[in-house]
Amino acid sequence: MDLALQNKIVAITGCNGGIGVAATISFLKEGAKVVGLYRESISKLSEIFTRISELGLNEKHFMPIEVDINSTTSIQEAIKKIIAEWGQIDVLVNNAGATLETPFLALNDDDFESIYVSNFSSLAKVSREVGKIMMRQKFGNIINVSSLVSERFGRGVSVYAAMKAAVNRLTEVMALEMGKKNIRVNAVCPGVVETSMSNALQERHGQMLIEQTPLRRFASPEEVAHSILFLSSEATASFITGSKLFIDGGIRL
Ligand SMILES: NC(=O)c1ccc[n+]([C@@H]2O[C@H](COP(=O)([O-])OP(=O)(O)OC[C@H]3O[C@@H](n4cnc5c(N)ncnc54)[C@H](OP(=O)(O)O)[C@@H]3O)[C@@H](O)[C@H]2O)c1
Repeated sequence: MDLALQNKIVAITGCNGGIGVAATISFLKEGAKVVGLYRESISKLSEIFTRISELGLNEKHFMPIEVDINSTTSIQEAIKKIIAEWGQIDVLVNNAGATLETPFLALNDDDFESIYVSNFSSLAKVSREVGKIMMRQKFGNIINVSSLVSERFGRGVSVYAAMKAAVNRLTEVMALEMGKKNIRVNAVCPGVVETSMSNALQERHGQMLIEQTPLRRFASPEEVAHSILFLSSEATASFITGSKLFIDGGIRL
């Protein structure tokens, strides 16, 4: 099926992470143009550049921009660059996020702040600034990468789980407020995905979690990326907004 994503302008935060790379490459394979938003060093993007070259993808369709996603000024500068180069933003994938496995009572104030910034405030700020552009364009599509722990499990990742629950609720209210301008906002809620973020969890509880999962395995980053593409596409999801799509092999059941 043609997802009709050719030449769509897609901005992805945390583009160098496990799911970020898979989403970047999947969109490029569909002919979209991807703005890879990353922090600090461009050397973190080496996997993306290697895969673009190995797969013979159009390297001009990938524009990396260094940005501090918790700084409104930095986000606005990044948006200016995107608009100057490519004229619009069709899809925003709020993928950046970080967890910290520590019991709730052992978390200190800095931990609270850093989990809040990485998983909620930065996502809200990027969505607000890109949302203004989409409202002017009268079209757009936002996909927030949430997590299964927004609704289930979550022992040891209390504040991360709470922030992902906040992302789900923000997704619903953004969908309510922005739908009238033809902007869809949805969330994906992965269970365990095979990326560096879940390494420690897989090592400690992997076997038990697989046994509890009806499909008896974890998700690949590509499976999450494909769900993001599904929600982005007007060919597959044109009437879906305010939804949460669980990609968890059924472990929540
Ligand atoms: N892996 C899982 O099992 C799983 C399950 C459910 C949901 N998720 C969600 O999926 C998303 C992607 O995770 P992943 O598995 O791909 O993890 P990952 O490989 O660790 O990638 C995380 C990405 O987010 C970026 N990031 C984190 N905090 C940031 C901040 N404050 N500012 C800017 N960038 C920041 C990281 O940038 P740096 O490289 O610069 O740190 C990296 O690019 C996250 O939102 C995560 O919560 C993952």
